[in-house]
Amino acid sequence: MSLDIVILAAGKGSRMKSSYSKVLHKVGGTAMVRRVLTTASRMPEANLHLVVGHQGEQVSEHCQDFSVNLVWQNDPQGTGDALRRVAPSLQNTGSTLTLYGDVPLISANTLEKMVSLSSPNTLVMLTINLADPTGYGRIVRNGQGQVAAIVEQKDASVEELAIQEVNTGILLAPNAHLQAWLAALTNDNAQGEYYLTDIIAMAAQQGIDIVTVQPSNEAEVAGVNDRIQLAALEREWQQQVASELMRQGATLLDPARLDVRGELQTGQDVVIDVNCVFEGKVVLGDRVEIGPNCYLKDCVIGEGTLIKSHSMIDDSQVGDACDIGPFARLRPGTKLANKAKIGNFVETKKAHIGEGSKVNHLSYVGDTQMGANVNVGAGTITCNYDGVNKHLTQVADNVFIGSNTSLVAPVEVAEGATIAAGSTITKAVGEKQLAFARARQSNKDNWLRPTKK
Ligand code: UD1
Ligand code: CA
Repeated sequence: MSLDIVILAAGKGSRMKSSYSKVLHKVGGTAMVRRVLTTASRMPEANLHLVVGHQGEQVSEHCQDFSVNLVWQNDPQGTGDALRRVAPSLQNTGSTLTLYGDVPLISANTLEKMVSLSSPNTLVMLTINLADPTGYGRIVRNGQGQVAAIVEQKDASVEELAIQEVNTGILLAPNAHLQAWLAALTNDNAQGEYYLTDIIAMAAQQGIDIVTVQPSNEAEVAGVNDRIQLAALEREWQQQVASELMRQGATLLDPARLDVRGELQTGQDVVIDVNCVFEGKVVLGDRVEIGPNCYLKDCVIGEGTLIKSHSMIDDSQVGDACDIGPFARLRPGTKLANKAKIGNFVETKKAHIGEGSKVNHLSYVGDTQMGANVNVGAGTITCNYDGVNKHLTQVADNVFIGSNTSLVAPVEVAEGATIAAGSTITKAVGEKQLAFARARQSNKDNWLRPTKK
């Protein structure tokens, strides 16, 4: 059966107090509207329609990579008005599912449940019972328990206000009837808007079957109107992600202090300490351990690697059994072979560090190709930038670099070479050579210190 999915995102969102469209605010690192589009895209044979209006250029620009029919609603006059503007693009058969750009956690599971119940003479609504139904449209049922209408908060009587079953807004209507219902909507109500919800009463009068489905949890249908609700939904999402990671076999020292703003894949027996943030796509191999306060973005970490506290890893590849941090910064293009060690206050960028090599303290290694079993002394700096261009430093296997060495690139250090501490290396060092590039020390006997006048 063909399915049209309409995502409403034209509203003003004035309570966000933002210069960005409300639906572009993020939950779990992804704009809310993109979450809805992603879920909608997973429904088989669906035509997607996105209704934009307020800050619509921003929204359409952010969603360019989705194949969706963009519909403009420049002066939004209610959810029914929004559907009316999409009406000419809807198919004659099948059903239309209405979703909201500011209700980001709706699940494909729930939508599939709704679609499975649809027929040309059935209207499927997603409802939920709330302890506090304030603000929502109430579900009015007749004596037989069948849905008769939805009454908006502002139009409800005292008895209706007491109803706890509410409209989530998400509904699936048969296209065979929808066009006529939309055409019959009026704006004769407290808000002077065309309410999509008024089609329920029309359907009920025409003897259409109205069935209700409940979501698996409240967060699925939670909408965001202000930044307080946005923060609450963010926590809810993070809690769900944390639970899933634990089910997959990761240990989280405190699931309430973890933030995944993208996709985190964990192997078995991964241990993550508190306050770690993961962005983009991060893959952690089996037995990876991450200390507190680490930030990892778009990286792959090999099995058994230890990342100590306060380390940052961005767009990098780390091998197995590496040892990183505390306070290490791996910048884009860093590639560590197995068993490499990057210690405290070390920054790497576009650096390939060979197997078993160690850069343990206070160093900058950029634009570097380094072999295996190299020892880099404390305070070693690759001088990769001449003010205009970046140059490569090449260090072969088994090199020993003394502390406080400057490697002025482009420069090559051949296998087995040794560099004396404090050297400024500007010329190639050959195999097994010792390079000594610092002023010689001279000592004076019986030196008299100056005295105070
Ligand atoms: C709507 C429902 C209400 C339900 C509630 C759930 C109607 C009339 N009421 O009320 O029964 O309980 O959602 O949250 O449908 N939008 C447009 N164009 C418009 C108007 C709205 O795109 O002309 C979008 C908004 O951007 C928003 C969504 O539709 O994302 C909901 O609109 P809103 O005005 O917040 O509806 P509610 O009053 O919350
Ligand atoms: Ca709302």
